[in-house]
Amino acid sequence: MEAIFKRRSIRKYNKDIDVTKEQIEKVLRAGMAAPSAGDGREWEFVVFRSQEIKDEIMKVHDHSKALETAPVGIVVCADIKKQAYKEYDWWIQDCAAAIENMLIEATFLGLGSLWLGIHSRAERVEGIKGIFGLPESVMPVGIVVLGTPEKERRSIDRYMEDRVHFEKF
Ligand SMILES: Cc1cc2nc3c(=O)[nH]c(=O)nc-3n(C[C@H](O)[C@H](O)[C@H](O)COP(=O)(O)O)c2cc1C
Repeated sequence: MEAIFKRRSIRKYNKDIDVTKEQIEKVLRAGMAAPSAGDGREWEFVVFRSQEIKDEIMKVHDHSKALETAPVGIVVCADIKKQAYKEYDWWIQDCAAAIENMLIEATFLGLGSLWLGIHSRAERVEGIKGIFGLPESVMPVGIVVLGTPEKERRSIDRYMEDRVHFEKF
């Protein structure tokens, strides 16, 4: 619960502190521990660090300024043809579950993180596909941004009792 409440969207990072390969691997491992429909595990992850790529992404994604300072980003994609059930769109939820695991692990590791939405904004999907030359069947769902926060943000508990509907016992 501590890491869950502590996770906040970080949009400004300390440019002088890098993210290590070990940290990236732990975040990816957390992503791949997520549940997926029919255990399809159709995820593909593209890790990027170069400023050229970040600049390209900022041109096609209108809410991604965090990439000006963040050292690392990971595009979380689904290879639709690797799905367990090809007739359904579970790949969206499968990627979302992986992304949330990654954000929580990043928080646990003391990193700041941010979820940049790609699917289902057509211009972002096409833009990201073009930048990375993704194959036809590979759909980018979101980007996990990682780095050291410039400023810590406070933990948050958003429990809303009125949104919970218990069956009468
Ligand atoms: C599907 C999804 C897409 C999002 N896309 C963006 C985005 O493109 N840019 C951004 O700065 N934040 C993005 N966010 C982060 C939300 O704005 C953020 O989670 C929300 O404001 C709550 O703040 P918190 O993460 O600090 O709790 C996205 C979050 C989700 C779940």
